[in-house]
Amino acid sequence: MNLLILGRGKTGSLVSEAARERGHEVSVLCAADNPNASALTAARLAPHDVVIDFTTPHTVLAHIEACIRHKKNLVVGTTGWYHDLPRIKQLVETSGTGLLYAANFSVGVNLFFDVARTAAAALQHQYSGQIFERHHAQKKDAPSGTAATVQRIIKDACGTELEITSFREGDVVGMHELILDSPADRIYLCHDAKSRRGFAEGAVRAAEWLAGKNGFFDFKDVWRQL
Ligand SMILES: NC(=O)c1ccc[n+]([C@@H]2O[C@H](COP(=O)([O-])OP(=O)(O)OC[C@H]3O[C@@H](n4cnc5c(N)ncnc54)[C@H](OP(=O)(O)O)[C@@H]3O)[C@@H](O)[C@H]2O)c1
Repeated sequence: MNLLILGRGKTGSLVSEAARERGHEVSVLCAADNPNASALTAARLAPHDVVIDFTTPHTVLAHIEACIRHKKNLVVGTTGWYHDLPRIKQLVETSGTGLLYAANFSVGVNLFFDVARTAAAALQHQYSGQIFERHHAQKKDAPSGTAATVQRIIKDACGTELEITSFREGDVVGMHELILDSPADRIYLCHDAKSRRGFAEGAVRAAEWLAGKNGFFDFKDVWRQL
């Protein structure tokens, strides 16, 4: 495939590397090339099968809107825009394009979501729960999209909204903990990312899956098909 990667930061650069290793042609746009999404014209997007976005919460909506306008399929790894999810879902569905997003493209984290969904039953049996997330000091949004996803999964499963506590320290890639506590015992569930490589490979495989499809997709619903 011919991929356009938006962002060449910590994750975007690994996505480009993983995409080249999987035999794809890759072009990259950084912030200076693309102020206010101005580079995302019909002509610039035309040669690419799929765009992959790992940029910033402030710029990602303009990128999404440009790709929808020009009917270009897009994988969105950037977090911090989910307040606009219903509007974007509707735009994608009425425009006949394809968008796949995830707070976390790691297969391990998506398994962790399933484990959390099962563990939510504890909250109906005298357990209380808390979510903790730790990331590197430069991370711009808090709580993390992954922690917010765990919170939503638990709420959908048992109606309880758990508190999220965020820590920003050092160069932590991403650690998420769900702790369930009862008078009798305590359950610790923890996912600790060792590198960004799992996110990058997942995003490239998501782009391969999305090519030629229409619709609005969440990676947690499709990762088993990759
Ligand atoms: N879904 C997942 O699995 C996952 C995993 C990791 C991170 N993330 C999310 O991905 C995002 C990026 O994370 P990161 O750690 O890679 O951040 P980062 O190192 O700060 O990189 C952000 C990049 O975005 C670029 N950028 C900003 N505006 C742009 C624009 N208009 N067009 C093109 N590029 C632009 C910047 O370019 P310059 O270098 O030119 O300034 C920078 O390289 C965050 O929202 C993070 O939460 C998601």
